Amino acid sequence: MKHKGKVALVTGAAQGLGLACAERFLEEGARVVLVDVQAEKVKQQAERLGANATWFAADLSEIDSAMAAAIVATAVDHFGSIDIVLCNAGIIHTADFVDFPEDIFDKIQRVNLKSPFLIGQAAARVMIEMGIKGSIINMSSINAILANPSAVAYAVSKGAVKQLTAVMAVALIKHGIRVNALGPGTIATELVMNSVMASEEQRHTVLSRTPIGRLGEASEVASVASFLASDDASYIVGQTIYPDGGRLVLNYTVPVSE
Ligand SMILES: NC(=O)c1ccc[n+]([C@@H]2O[C@H](COP(=O)([O-])OP(=O)(O)OC[C@H]3O[C@@H](n4cnc5c(N)ncnc54)[C@H](O)[C@@H]3O)[C@@H](O)[C@H]2O)c1
Repeated sequence: MKHKGKVALVTGAAQGLGLACAERFLEEGARVVLVDVQAEKVKQQAERLGANATWFAADLSEIDSAMAAAIVATAVDHFGSIDIVLCNAGIIHTADFVDFPEDIFDKIQRVNLKSPFLIGQAAARVMIEMGIKGSIINMSSINAILANPSAVAYAVSKGAVKQLTAVMAVALIKHGIRVNALGPGTIATELVMNSVMASEEQRHTVLSRTPIGRLGEASEVASVASFLASDDASYIVGQTIYPDGGRLVLNYTVPVSE
């Protein structure tokens, strides 16, 4: 039980990677707070997970300091602590660069970048006050490194999350708080199936650039999140770890079975 007695807060936890990570934290002994904009769905998931899970409905595209403090307070009020924070909620929109809408650019930065900044800040304040040597994990992406011409706002937000993670890590390690990030490749979640894997041509493009020859599973990201949150990762500070099936180290392309 890697996380026995710990309290973990996960944003974007109604489905996909967030839910898989929350379930893994729970399996490893943590009590979990699930945060999501899909109020009914996150409530159902928390109820399904039982008494060691609770939920908070929030639209992180409206995030401000007060909302961030309220989210963190849910963990402390309900379970008495906050030891692990996974800022996972994220959205993507694809459009040609010259047509990319300004309002959607802004919204993506608020959900993907501003919410980990403010929730990480609020959590760190509480951890420092309570003397908790916690672990904060932000959700980046291989798109922190790779330029996708039709997802400018997403790529910018994920590159910024990588650097946010580095800055937070250096600022908070003196309090014993470790901050790291995850940068998954293409993982089979609803976000991916409805966007990058929506057409056969896109499926071929993704797989031809994925040496392992398949998409990742949410559980394969949850394993890394659980490791980063645990004492097994006690000397890992400020890193973005890429569970990507070899995507970032590939130069050319690989054959795809049709
Ligand atoms: N799936 C992948 O291949 C992949 C790869 C790299 C990075 N990521 C990142 O992992 C994270 C999770 O992705 P996923 O594939 O599970 O996506 P998903 O769409 O299945 O889940 C995202 C969750 O975030 C929630 N969310 C969206 N907007 C929100 C808002 N305004 N306020 C609160 N919650 C909100 C959604 O309701 C949903 O539950 C995202 O940050 C994504 O960018 C995913």
